[in-house]
Amino acid sequence: MCEEKKKYYITTPIYYPSGNMHIGHTYTTVAADTMTRYKKMQGYDAYFLTGTDEHGQKIERKAVEKGVTPKEYVDEIVANTKELWKLMEVEYDDFIRTTDERHEKVVQKIFRQFYEQGDIYKSNYEGLYCTPCESFWTPTQVVEKDGVKCCPDCGRPVEPMHEESYFFRMSKYQDWLIDYIQTHPDFIQPVSRANEMINNFLKPGLQDLCVSRTSFKWGVPVDFDPKHVVYVWIDALSNYITALGYKSEDDTLFRKYWPANVHLVGKEIVRFHTIYWPIMLHALGLELPEQVFAHGWLLFGGDKMSKSKGNVQYAQPIVARYGADALRYYLLREMPFGADGNYTDEAFLTRYNADLANDLGNLVSRTVAMIEKYFDGVLPSWSAEGADAEVDAPLREHCSQLPGLVDAQMEKLQFSQALTEIWKVIGECNKYIDITQPWVLGKDESRKPRLANVLLNLAESVRFVSVLIRPFMPVTPDKIYEQLGIKEYTDILTYESLDSFGRLPAGAKVCKGEALFQRLDIKKELAALNPAPAEEKKKPAKQEKAQPKQQPKEKKPVEIPEGCIGFGDFEKIKMRVANVIACERVEKSEKLLKFRLDLGTEQRTVLSGIAKYYNPEELVGKSLILLANLAPRKIMGIESQGMLLSAVEEKEDGSEFLRLLTVDGSTFKAGAEIG
Ligand code: MSP
Repeated sequence: MCEEKKKYYITTPIYYPSGNMHIGHTYTTVAADTMTRYKKMQGYDAYFLTGTDEHGQKIERKAVEKGVTPKEYVDEIVANTKELWKLMEVEYDDFIRTTDERHEKVVQKIFRQFYEQGDIYKSNYEGLYCTPCESFWTPTQVVEKDGVKCCPDCGRPVEPMHEESYFFRMSKYQDWLIDYIQTHPDFIQPVSRANEMINNFLKPGLQDLCVSRTSFKWGVPVDFDPKHVVYVWIDALSNYITALGYKSEDDTLFRKYWPANVHLVGKEIVRFHTIYWPIMLHALGLELPEQVFAHGWLLFGGDKMSKSKGNVQYAQPIVARYGADALRYYLLREMPFGADGNYTDEAFLTRYNADLANDLGNLVSRTVAMIEKYFDGVLPSWSAEGADAEVDAPLREHCSQLPGLVDAQMEKLQFSQALTEIWKVIGECNKYIDITQPWVLGKDESRKPRLANVLLNLAESVRFVSVLIRPFMPVTPDKIYEQLGIKEYTDILTYESLDSFGRLPAGAKVCKGEALFQRLDIKKELAALNPAPAEEKKKPAKQEKAQPKQQPKEKKPVEIPEGCIGFGDFEKIKMRVANVIACERVEKSEKLLKFRLDLGTEQRTVLSGIAKYYNPEELVGKSLILLANLAPRKIMGIESQGMLLSAVEEKEDGSEFLRLLTVDGSTFKAGAEIG
């Protein structure tokens, strides 16, 4: 008998197509896509729904401003949205639009059922309305700014509103909901949001909710009272079941996937998803979603990005320059899911260089390059002779445990932690290279079996990493498989194949390709991402407001003992962490190595007289210490722009040995100041 796959149903909010989607919307959608891909990889029958919430006064107004019909207006934005999801490698199973007939018909049925069973009644509404948020507020809920009544969510002015409306008797279900939330601790995540809902909304008493409008037409008409349209939240929230065919002729999907396993939402709409939605479902006699997960906001300049505030960052220019995987990685890695975080180009570029170009990219290129160099590009066979259990076991065990470690984080939707687990293995691989020193093994033919095992351990670890990053970064793994020559070996590229370490096929032909992630010159990239407008360039630099000069307080001079320097002297010395991008011998010199160094905001060429003590290739990827403000000097016709610091080791025979100073930590930020 074949066992039925476990189902997993995940949704994003349906977005307002009042303008094009920015990286805030992209954030939720990428998270949902990653989770779906992860579950599918684990063998689940996963179903991912996203879509657009197209009705309401705001869209109606926007369309009028543009001189088109509301449907024409949203059609264009929806087309752009679908393009964007394609660009972001998002693979949804369904895209619901609240203007779909399949949705509108069922919303009418739901509304009628509520009315007939007495959950909805007709009355008059008097209140304050926030058009951008499509929310009604009571006088006690609004906030006053300079005497103007404003929306407590977005801070923009609210308008007084008076009209005949239908209301949903929320108050009737209040006690049931408090009990439900308290007895289902996983229902609202993070848990702090559950407390917020209970203390701020449920305990003070639920107001009945206005669920229809007569002042605009752009909505689903109430079929038994057509001057009313269904007010946005009943229309919007029910998308999660109408998309599955609830109350339609074919409700197979509904019976298969409902209840949802998780609704992903931004923290500003938790209230609708954890109060109104559960009550609606309960009134319909349906099960509640297993979980509503509220993630934080992606801030821009410290403020929530929003189309109506105009402070937005879009995904397209970033993806065009750096690829979808890089942006997906950044969004999922940068902030813990649930917390707020800032987007800045600088933070993105720094992560790109450190995690993608340096850690992952270098590991793959070094591994492939060494297999090419020492084994003519063919994956060697494992050999018992080449094993060194003490050195190899920790890496092999870590890899074997990795799927479990990542699963545990993904169960909690902790994308950032899951990636951190994977990057720990990448860091360990890079250390393993330093410890095993393949370039030394390569010099001694008798140590070839050891070298084979070392490189196989690395390549095999790369396989583990690649399989596990695929849900996060769908494009990169294939490039890695191609370089490792294992793209055709599909049975070792699955999640299940990670049940044992050491499956790489001997004889596969590696193929050194382009760098997975080109190291970036951050200064140049910042300029390319934010080109100064022509007139800006002509403007003189902003003048600092003249400050009255303060008389410096008289300080007692500090006495400096002979042979010491004062703090002022020390301050003159500028030292920086420099990551080695490339290193080679200087022609006709026995002593000199030429380095290309990354200082975060710039790159430098530096010469160092350590060729006797190091092999250039073992230094690539290391973080060294550079005396950065030493005057440049030409040596053998090459300008050296700084000095790498090293320690002198004196051997017993009196000879000297130089070791470069380095920093602890494999992903040290290039350019970090020392002091
Ligand atoms: N249409 C409603 C949702 C109805 S769901 C039944 C809506 N739409 S929205 O266009 O405003 O999208 C809100 C959602 O977009 C947020 O909940 C979040 O998922 C995502 N985000 C929009 N801006 C965001 C940030 N700046 N940061 C993180 N997420 C953001 O509300």
